[in-house]
Amino acid sequence: MNIAEWTPILATIVCVPSSLAVAAGVARDTVSVVPQPMSIERREGSFVITPSTQVIAEGQAAGGAPKLIDALRPAMGYRLSRVESPTSATSTIRMKIDPSLRDRIGDEGYELDVGPQSINILACEPAGLFYAVQTLRQLLPPEIFSRQEVKGIEWSLPCVHVTDRPRLRWRGLLIDPARHFIPVADIERFIDTMALHKFNRLQIHLTDDQGWRIEIKRYPQLTETGAWMDFTALSRGGQSADGPRPGGFYTQDDIRRLARYAADRHVTIVPEIEMPAHTGAAIVSYPHLGLHPENLNKLPIGERWTANERVLAPRPQTVTFMQNVLAEVIGLFPSRHIHIGGDEANIAHWKQSDEMQAMMHELHLKDETELHSWFIKQMDTFLTSQGRQLVGWDEILQGGLASGAVVMSWRGQEGGIKTAQAGHDVVMAPTSHTYFDYYQGPAQTEPKAIGGFIPLEKVYGFEPVPEVLDAEQAKHVLGGQGQLWGEYIADQKHREYMAYPRAAALAEVLWSPQESRGYEQFRLRLTNHLKRLAVLGTNYRPLDR
Ligand code: ACM
Repeated sequence: MNIAEWTPILATIVCVPSSLAVAAGVARDTVSVVPQPMSIERREGSFVITPSTQVIAEGQAAGGAPKLIDALRPAMGYRLSRVESPTSATSTIRMKIDPSLRDRIGDEGYELDVGPQSINILACEPAGLFYAVQTLRQLLPPEIFSRQEVKGIEWSLPCVHVTDRPRLRWRGLLIDPARHFIPVADIERFIDTMALHKFNRLQIHLTDDQGWRIEIKRYPQLTETGAWMDFTALSRGGQSADGPRPGGFYTQDDIRRLARYAADRHVTIVPEIEMPAHTGAAIVSYPHLGLHPENLNKLPIGERWTANERVLAPRPQTVTFMQNVLAEVIGLFPSRHIHIGGDEANIAHWKQSDEMQAMMHELHLKDETELHSWFIKQMDTFLTSQGRQLVGWDEILQGGLASGAVVMSWRGQEGGIKTAQAGHDVVMAPTSHTYFDYYQGPAQTEPKAIGGFIPLEKVYGFEPVPEVLDAEQAKHVLGGQGQLWGEYIADQKHREYMAYPRAAALAEVLWSPQESRGYEQFRLRLTNHLKRLAVLGTNYRPLDR
């Protein structure tokens, strides 16, 4: 049965008030996986996990077994045993890598077969096994997401056959510790919930005017000064200056640990080091990076972040400085993609600078957009020489796109369309559908947000691959990303509230087949799914708020 056939049955099963559903045992039979798998076929019966259930994972699948066992242990209160071959077990969960399935399920896909006595999981790569485990967890009662043992529950899941693979390769979220520092433990929890939704990219906006958050050994002032600017949009005339101190930074050890934690959950952290604008913290730390270092000390300390309008002077020494920063960054993050920002540069300041005008003349650059592009190209050349790939916001299209660059299209999808048509890769992240720092309900009843209005249904209606692209061009759309900019998000509870359930909608947009999408049936599945988030302790905006 494909999804279209499945939907009416799903609707009849799920369309029961949740309290009644639990009382009648109906919720136990409900299949409501988010994001919706490519194909899910319901079969007779159920499988019950008990302490005697054995996990069998051979060869390359071996790494998948502990992930399954660890995911089930807290709520079940016991560890399933792992064996090489089944003993007298009455029930088994078998995991296997089978590269011959690649044409059907790709690198991240899986097959999950749940029968009354055995569960069989097949994938081509460990990522697929991991995603099968995420689906398996969602087939169990929501209490499985508890971090403490839950007694008195039968850990049963309905018999199903699932064949699944993602629609798109880049399924991302962005968080912003530059505006309000985010403790490592909060990022880890955030990654846990992302992984449950099969997201695989976490962009971390590590530097901005308000703070520099990553230790760079060669330039210690970046964090000694730049990590403690201690102001935010909230503290500067926003709602309140209360709450956690906004300053802080990640040591290189923190970063290594975080990158490993994410990789274990098949999430790649994409670091973002902003340039040539949004660089107030860097300029305050190293004034010679700015246009007029001599002016900096004339400003009161609290105003220095505004120095030189927060744009770098792209002198050769500045290029070297930023390449040296990137050299340390790529030593810490295994991500092929390294984001260099590139957005919202107030290049008019270069126009007013005799020094910059002379430099442009020398480089035969006709205007400031070309100087911007020249600077980005220096980073592109460097990253390419190191085997990495530059990503930048769509302003990097102006003045000529660097040869190896990937564009992140935020000012609508037009920039992304141009990029794909020019044969470059693009990630769609438009303000219209993916800015989760925007309001999701009426402003007067919501926590203060930066503005805008992007309710859940709008996110669900996002189409990351514009119709105007032909099949070849469409292949350049790597995927999409939701943004949680941090100006007005000061803590984890609020971050989660802004993210969910909108990120669940985005996960489905990016993972599930386009033809399977339907907002009404998504809402029905979401009702059950939100119980999982509640048990997990992830905050979210209630559907009926
Ligand atoms: C952006 O929102 N300035 C990328």
